[in-house]
Amino acid sequence: MNRGIWLNSRGIQDIQTLLRNYLKDVIQPGDVAVDATAGRGRDTLFLAQCVGDQGKVYAFDIQEEALTSTRELIKNHDLEKRVEIIKASHSEIATHVPPGIKAIVFNLGYLPGSSSKLATRAETTVPAIAQALNLLRATGLMAITVYRAHDHALEESEALLAFLTSLDKKEFSVLQGIYLNQKKLSPYWVIIQKNRRKTNESSPAEKNS
Ligand SMILES: C[S@@+](CC[C@H](N)C(=O)[O-])C[C@H]1O[C@@H](n2cnc3c(N)ncnc32)[C@H](O)[C@@H]1O
Repeated sequence: MNRGIWLNSRGIQDIQTLLRNYLKDVIQPGDVAVDATAGRGRDTLFLAQCVGDQGKVYAFDIQEEALTSTRELIKNHDLEKRVEIIKASHSEIATHVPPGIKAIVFNLGYLPGSSSKLATRAETTVPAIAQALNLLRATGLMAITVYRAHDHALEESEALLAFLTSLDKKEFSVLQGIYLNQKKLSPYWVIIQKNRRKTNESSPAEKNS
């Protein structure tokens, strides 16, 4: 039984818990999902568990350390068959992933426990998100978490919000969540749903339903 987002054990205390509750309601076995910022692999693992044996997850990162962590985590859960790990910038997503993605996760910022110098940046984040929205299938979701602790985080956050507020409301629903009672630059999240079909793409799960 789906217990809904408000009844989850951590409720809205934790952004990742909250976003995963939205994502797991949308992702079906056999779907294709993307982790655009693999990092330590926790989102890749979550997505791999959601898509099942017939599904596929593409995981991107530019740092070898992140890819090694992700590979190990996926191997430890015996889910290698479901995951393709790609050493490339997410701004190249369209050259690696075909259209028809059901869910995409961007966890912006830097690799936990590593240098903040290799954090995500506006000049690659915004084009990556624009490309990824094109690849998303109708009813698919994109979940973005924005951490604002690194040097270029404010620039990235401003560019991202400028882009997201320009999206056509007929095509996308764009929802932002921010903690009002935390410090000014606390993390926030954005969830985007593609509202209507522009092409007749469909996922393996949809074709079989
Ligand atoms: C906040 S971490 C991701 C955390 C991750 N989701 C996890 O579960 O551990 C952000 C990651 O984005 C990666 N990154 C930075 N720029 C990138 C780019 N242009 N393309 C892909 N990944 C990038 C960093 O190397 C870092 O590992």
